[in-house]
Amino acid sequence: MSKDFAGIIIEEAEIKAKVDEMGRQITEYYSSLGIKELVIIGILRGAVIFMSDLIRKIDLPMTIDFMAISSYGTSATSSGSVRVLKDVSESIEGKHLLIVEDIVDTGLTLQCLKNLLWARNPKSLHLCSFLSKPSRRLTDVTVDFCGFEIPDEFVVGYGLDYAGKYRQLPYVAILNPEVYAKI
Ligand code: IMP
Ligand code: MG
Repeated sequence: MSKDFAGIIIEEAEIKAKVDEMGRQITEYYSSLGIKELVIIGILRGAVIFMSDLIRKIDLPMTIDFMAISSYGTSATSSGSVRVLKDVSESIEGKHLLIVEDIVDTGLTLQCLKNLLWARNPKSLHLCSFLSKPSRRLTDVTVDFCGFEIPDEFVVGYGLDYAGKYRQLPYVAILNPEVYAKI
């Protein structure tokens, strides 16, 4: 393990097992409601790795799309408003949407995104996140499908970055605080 990390908190095999389980759970959930087709919307760039593994475990007809958003303000002063940097390519009106995120921290980004998407009249909207830090939550946004709940540590890997790096790691590691100073 690189000296950049204080430890690995989720191993590759654990991720694989969890993604399999989530794929089954999502398939069963929508099948039980008689929903026949999904639009999976990945939030760039963090969700790309998780989403590409997850969709291959969901046994339902689907299309995929992407959005890129940035939060206004710093994390300390976040107003919870988001700016859309890249919008979805197709209309979502009347569609069953599943938003896929890498991590829900305060929940402000997702809460805001959810409001923005509901205004376009989809038929349903659910949230799926690989990770969640429940102790940091500032909104009551519901994560319908969550991979792992983690403590309040800054983590990287499996899509999650620090200053754009470490996304390609096949595991999730806690970033060593010394790295913050170096980059
Ligand atoms: P929030 O839920 O609005 O606070 O913002 C969530 C966003 O913060 C995520 O989409 C990530 O981009 C980023 N983030 C929060 N915690 C971490 C972390 O531990 N590692 C990497 N990115 C994080
Ligand atoms: Mg993100």
